[in-house]
Amino acid sequence: KTDVSIGLLGLGTVGCGVVKLIRQHQEELVHQLGYEVKVKRILVRDIEKDRDIEIDPASITLNPDDILNDPEIDVVVEVMGGVNEARQYIIKALENKKHVVTANKDLIALYGPELQELAWKNQCDLLYEASVGGGIPIIRGLTDGLVSDRIQKVMGIVNGTTNFILTKMMDEGVSYEEALRDAQALGFAEADPTADVEGLDAARKMAILARLAFYTNVKLEDVEVGGITNLSSEDLHYGKTLGYTMKLIGVAECQDEQIEVCVQPTFVAQNHPLASVKNEFNAVYINGEAIGEAMFYGPGAGSMPTATAVVSDVVAAIKNMQLGVNGRNLRGPRFERKLMPLDQ
Ligand code: NAP
Ligand code: HSE
Repeated sequence: KTDVSIGLLGLGTVGCGVVKLIRQHQEELVHQLGYEVKVKRILVRDIEKDRDIEIDPASITLNPDDILNDPEIDVVVEVMGGVNEARQYIIKALENKKHVVTANKDLIALYGPELQELAWKNQCDLLYEASVGGGIPIIRGLTDGLVSDRIQKVMGIVNGTTNFILTKMMDEGVSYEEALRDAQALGFAEADPTADVEGLDAARKMAILARLAFYTNVKLEDVEVGGITNLSSEDLHYGKTLGYTMKLIGVAECQDEQIEVCVQPTFVAQNHPLASVKNEFNAVYINGEAIGEAMFYGPGAGSMPTATAVVSDVVAAIKNMQLGVNGRNLRGPRFERKLMPLDQ
């Protein structure tokens, strides 16, 4: 065998980035794995659509089973978004003993624990680095780099679209509508940007981070959520004259077996490090008992940064295959802690 085949579910902003990255960095992948990584089949909705990249038409399909039932495909990469179909396809992939990499925070926030169980049962990897923080290895940071610590707080900017909009409104005087259109054109926003601007996307990401940090299943309905749709340019500029910058901030905190997770627009002092996080960039602070404070910073959305996280997960899954340890050294807690909501 000289290559490993992957199947891609989706060929939009992230999917095109994944294909490009695999092509452009094939040499690095071969150095890491000893194999070439080949994108064998790609599922789309519309076969006629113009794509950003050249694709062999024979590799495109409208039938998910061409990927999920193909015995030559070892890793299924889900970058189509949405919940119901994506969940069904991932379940089928895991049942067919395929490793799964996904960028889908909507799905992982809702069904992460259930899918993780299924992955363990089938000795498969389920990896989702790209679901939080775009290209920033925040999930690896939490679940590998800081796994020996006791995490107390996770806080930061985890939505690129809203940070982009707020930056454009405050720094360049661009209107909300125009800034949102630009964020969509640049591929940062979700297919339906409501989840971005209403704070739900950030809430899903904070729920995922809180689950990994505190070993507990955070339900989305327990996350207090505010978005940026009610903020006016006047509010933002008034804040600016007083020395503050508006940011959509997520906080997950655990104290004395009580947990609180929330996402709220917040005025941050202009000399605070989070104030200098601009455009689609994200930044997450982690407070750990032993490490103190650590910060993760980088592009939180966009085609190539997100593709980096996805393809790095693909490499991790293939390396585990080579070692024969898929489904054994997985990220994520193996036990669940019962925590109470923080007293109001
Ligand atoms: P996108 O540009 O809208 O692309 C979605 C792709 O999936 C399209 O190619 C679409 O096919 C295909 N697709 C959607 N539903 C399908 C279905 N039911 N059957 C077959 N194909 C289907 O989305 P994206 O921005 O790449 O995001 C993909 C995922 O990554 C989402 O979960 C998103 O939350 C996550 N994510 C995105 C970013 C980002 O910066 N964009 C960053 C991190 C994570 P057609 O092209 O034929 O319509
Ligand atoms: N729509 C998301 C954002 C994409 O703007 O952060 C990255 O998850």
